[in-house]
Amino acid sequence: MKQIFGVFGDPIAHSLSPIMHNSAFSAIGMDCIYHAFKVRPDKLEKAILGAEAMGFGGLNLTVPLKEVALKLDCIKLDPLAERIGAVNTIVFGETREIKGYNTDGLGAKQALREAAVEIRGSKIVVAGAGGAARAIAFQLAADGAEIIVINRTEGRAIELAQDISATALPGKVEGRGLSGLKTLLQDADVLINTTTLGMHPNADTTIATAEELHSGLTVFDIVYNPLETRLLKEAKASGAKPVSGVSMLVYQGAEAFRLWTGIEPPVELMKKTVLEALQA
Ligand code: ATR
Repeated sequence: MKQIFGVFGDPIAHSLSPIMHNSAFSAIGMDCIYHAFKVRPDKLEKAILGAEAMGFGGLNLTVPLKEVALKLDCIKLDPLAERIGAVNTIVFGETREIKGYNTDGLGAKQALREAAVEIRGSKIVVAGAGGAARAIAFQLAADGAEIIVINRTEGRAIELAQDISATALPGKVEGRGLSGLKTLLQDADVLINTTTLGMHPNADTTIATAEELHSGLTVFDIVYNPLETRLLKEAKASGAKPVSGVSMLVYQGAEAFRLWTGIEPPVELMKKTVLEALQA
C-alpha cells in the first residue's frame, strides 16, 4: 500500500514540494505519494494527529503554520527548530513519536556550499529578520560565520541578533537597519536576501542595486519566483556571483526526505523537476 507524505499550508495550491518529492520517490522506486493539503492554523494539531493516525510517512509545514507548530503539545521539538522558532518538517519516529524539525537553514547552507562558499569565518549579510532569516542566521552562526542581520524594522534585526548571541554558537551576530548597505557590503563575502523584495508580483524591487554590490561578493536570493530575480540580475551586472533560491528549496526538501526515509534523495533530479515547473 502506498505510503502518504504531505505538505500542510494555506495557501498551498502552488507548492512545488509535491512534484519535487514525487519525482524523488518514483526515481528511487519507493511506493509513496506526496500531496498538498490546505490546513488552517486552528486545525493544525488535528491534521497532524490525523496524519499520524493514518500512518503518513512524514510532513512539511509551510506558511502560515511553521510558527503555529511550535505551540503544539503533540510535537517534540528538535532544539534547533525550537531556537529558530519554526517547524517545517514533521517526522513520525519509530514509536510514532511526532518530532518537529527545521531544515530551512541546512537548505541555505547546502546552497552556499554548492556555490563553493566557505561559511566559517566569512562575513555574511542577511537581509530580513522573518522566519527564513532566523533559520538561516542560526544555521550560519552554528557554522562559525560572522553575521550582520539588516532589516527594514531595525528592532527585529537586533532581536534576532540577540536571540542568536544568547546561545553558545560560535559565530558573531549583529543587527542593524537597512541604511549604509554599500559600505557594509564592501568587506562582506556574502549577501543573502530573505525579504520578499523581488518576489512575484513585485519582481521589479530589490534589496540592493549593482552599484552597491561588488565582484568579490556571492549574492544569494532565497526568492525563486521569478527564477532570475532583479537582485540576481544586479549581482551579475556588478560581477558578483549569483546563487538562486531554487537551491535552497531543493536542499531543504532533500534534508526533510533524509529525515523521513534515511535514504539519500536524488537531489539533481529534484532540482531539474523544480526548474522545469518554474519555467513552464
Ligand atoms: P518569512 O517568514 O518568509 O521570512 P516574513 O516574516 O513576512 O517572511 O518576513 C519578511 C521580511 O521581508 C521581513 O524582514 C520584512 O521586513 P520587516 O520586518 O520590516 O517587515 C521584509 N520586507 C518585506 N517587505 C519589505 C520591503 N518593502 N522593504 C524591505 N523589507 C521588506
